Amino acid sequence: MIAIKYNGPIMNKLYMKNFIFATEINIRLAHSSSCRKIKSWKEIPGPSSLPIIGQLHHYFPGGSLYQCNGFEFQEKLYKNYGPLVRLNTVYAGKPAIFVFDPDSMAQVLRGENWLPIRPGFDVLYHYRNFYNQPKGGAPGLTGLISDHGQKWKQLRSLVNPIIMHPDNIKLYDTPIGEVAQDVVQRIKDLRDEDGMITKNFDYLMYLWALESVGVVALGSRLNTFNENLESDSVVRRLITLIHEFFAISENLDIKPSLWRYYPTPAFKRAMKVFCDIDSITRSLVLKAKDELSQRGHSADDKKGVLEKLLEVDEKIALIMAGDLLFTGVDTVGNTMSCTLYLLASHPEKQNTLRQEVNSGDERKSYLKACIKESLRVMPVAGGNIRQCTKEYNLLGYEIPKDMFVVFPHQYLSKMESQYPRANEFIPERWLVDKDHALYHGNAHPFAYNPFGFGARICIGRRIAELELESLLSKIIQNFELEWRGPPPTMYQSAMNYFKGPFNFVFKDIK
Ligand code: HEM
Repeated sequence: MIAIKYNGPIMNKLYMKNFIFATEINIRLAHSSSCRKIKSWKEIPGPSSLPIIGQLHHYFPGGSLYQCNGFEFQEKLYKNYGPLVRLNTVYAGKPAIFVFDPDSMAQVLRGENWLPIRPGFDVLYHYRNFYNQPKGGAPGLTGLISDHGQKWKQLRSLVNPIIMHPDNIKLYDTPIGEVAQDVVQRIKDLRDEDGMITKNFDYLMYLWALESVGVVALGSRLNTFNENLESDSVVRRLITLIHEFFAISENLDIKPSLWRYYPTPAFKRAMKVFCDIDSITRSLVLKAKDELSQRGHSADDKKGVLEKLLEVDEKIALIMAGDLLFTGVDTVGNTMSCTLYLLASHPEKQNTLRQEVNSGDERKSYLKACIKESLRVMPVAGGNIRQCTKEYNLLGYEIPKDMFVVFPHQYLSKMESQYPRANEFIPERWLVDKDHALYHGNAHPFAYNPFGFGARICIGRRIAELELESLLSKIIQNFELEWRGPPPTMYQSAMNYFKGPFNFVFKDIK
């Protein structure tokens, strides 16, 4: 007892001294090993760099990435460098990390889900925030695609319940179905004696997408299929201008460009394009507003998207009309061309779909599965991007705040390890049970994200699905689709474009 009593404090002192010493060593060891473990993002593997030109030589003739884009580009990065790849000049000449590891994707996408920053459309932001502001006017909301942070959140919270609510979208079943019916008629009128529309089939798909999204965003039919439309008519001008939008974004937002320092000719052209689109959408929205006030307001459950947006604020209705037109034409138009191509080259899948459509089965499971599978095999968006608002440790590398992180979903959704028989078009994988080898649920949930993720997910998703389901079922009901000759070429810029040749054959169903 005494010894214990006597030795106690001494033992405790010694113990404490040793403990503190050991802990200090442990902390130092832990610190040095964590320093060793967490490497700088600059150490992430990537194409080699040369003085002054950095990685640029890889994109020159003979370079490993020369003329390489889309799926092939992503595949080369992954196969050559692994799950994280550092490219030094990606977005506006700044570095970005390509993430092929789905757990790391999940880490960043979830970590950035409060106020996600999806870089892009800086030039549109500039137009709406500065160029198009009355002198001395306070910068306000610029739009869903160009705003970030609290401004984006404020707008998204206002428009989400209007644009994403299934009941609101259901109101468009009939008008969007009518547009689809007109496309079927147009195909009948345009095809040659072989049943083919070899020229500008993509243009027909863009007209359909514009006509459909116009019903939602502008509240009326634009009559884009009217053959007598002059080339300088509002509608023809609108579709040309909308196409230019993505080229502008590619050239001025993504590629390094001097417009950030002085107004280049391309920048001036962009301002003109935005100005023209603004004045067209303004006149169409105001026309719809007049018609609404003459007709009297609809019952609450019959109010469409434009009417609801106008009730919130006219400026928001105008901004959203622009955003929906910008984003709703090329995306849906190309997805439709790809889905038709996949069905035309898989007659047995086409028959299964036709049987379902003719059966009137309202669940439309196979139809939905065909669209999902088409977006997996030939996605219009090659991936997604976020700018980090904080630091991350991804696979032992420190990703600093403000870094651009790219999610190359196009490659992931065609990885054999995620989707067995990944290159094949198999809509059934979305329908089979858990114990089936093809069951889609065996893939990592972040491998396939065609509409993006979380709070910033595509707000037009339900509209897009309605349009695609509507036209696809009408085409399959009316025509037996065939594809002649070699597969189409895809052109990748801000998104993946179906560039023809358009070897579809539309045979009447007997
Ligand atoms: C198959 C067709 C479509 C695909 C694959 C698609 C894909 C996407 C993707 C990947 C994003 C980025 C989401 C994110 O950052 O996480 C997005 C955003 C967006 N999409 Fe779509 N989209 C399609 C059709 C449409 C349509 C028809 C509209 C309009 C009617 C539309 C309007 C928008 C808007 C406004 C945003 C920005 C949302 C925000 O930042 O809050 N999209 N879309």
